[in-house]
Amino acid sequence: MKILGIESSCDECAAAVVVDGSLILSNVVLSQVDFHKPFHGVVPEIASRKHIEWIRPVVEEALSVAGVTAAELDAIAVTYRPGLVGSLLVGLSFAKGLALALAKPLVGVDHILAHLYAPHLETTIPYPYLGLLVSGGHTIIARVSRYDTLEVLGTTIDDACGEAFDKVAKHYGMGYPGGIAIDRLARAGDPRSFRFPKPSLHKGDSLYDVSYSGLKTAVIHQLDQFWNGKSEKSPANIAASFQRVAIDLLVERVLAAAEDTGLRRIVAGGGVAANSYLRERMSSEAEIEVVFPSLKLCTDNAAMVAGYAFHAAREGRISDLALNAEARVPMFKRAYP
Ligand code: KG4
Ligand code: ZN
Repeated sequence: MKILGIESSCDECAAAVVVDGSLILSNVVLSQVDFHKPFHGVVPEIASRKHIEWIRPVVEEALSVAGVTAAELDAIAVTYRPGLVGSLLVGLSFAKGLALALAKPLVGVDHILAHLYAPHLETTIPYPYLGLLVSGGHTIIARVSRYDTLEVLGTTIDDACGEAFDKVAKHYGMGYPGGIAIDRLARAGDPRSFRFPKPSLHKGDSLYDVSYSGLKTAVIHQLDQFWNGKSEKSPANIAASFQRVAIDLLVERVLAAAEDTGLRRIVAGGGVAANSYLRERMSSEAEIEVVFPSLKLCTDNAAMVAGYAFHAAREGRISDLALNAEARVPMFKRAYP
């Protein structure tokens, strides 16, 4: 089954052709990063306008690289939630038009589930496992029992992990996008220069919840308070010290969830899964099997959308043309989707 995937939930305009949920024939990702850089963050209005300009050439490129004509496709898959609604609508409307014109089935795909599917494009991973989804908008620790079913065990009670990286980088002018800038800068820094605090969570929160707003405040507004008094207060030292705590607190929760659930396999996904310290730390855990997607499949792409859709289409889960974009998915506290 040859499926065209389309992804436009944020600032990457992407299209891909994937066969039977695993063979990637093309994976085109056009990043808008240069257009958002002057603002140190994604500007929704610019994002949707760029998607409108780029969606058609990006889809054409994906088909051309794959050597597949539109008529040969078996289905059109598209991210419909969560994300920036104006951006989502561009990909969704384009996909609907294509599906209607070609009389092909449309498969609406949830971006979170697609991120978790990404490593399945590269290797066979049996279910169930512990999913760790860390991106700019989400931080989720979940028991994943099928490609479309996850039970959320923990989430963030405030900022997402990637959002904390982005905000710290923006405040100190470390570079844009923030996550990759901090990751690079941290390599030259001493992670013990600042002893930033780990969050104390409230009684009502789940054992596996995380919180980033306290850490963000400490790094941005209370630097001196946590300084070791010896190291230089350099951007590299700030980046390394922040990154260590931001990742360590996540890893502690994931390992606690692995211990308590007995799930010894952890599968990561989302932009922050590209973080080199997270990859290094998790991979050094004995007795735990850790699967990370390759870097290209961590951040937003359409191959994960097309790959996921193969399983949905095979089970007859075809979307209606009335499918609408959704900015958010109701809170992840209990079950998802
Ligand atoms: O999955 P993604 O491309 O888009 C969303 O669905 O949000 O993730 C983007 C997020 C951003 O917050 C970005 O700063 C972060 O992933 N990110 C990283 C790294 N690469 C991207 N965070 C830490 N280290 C990285 N190497
Ligand atoms: Zn994403």
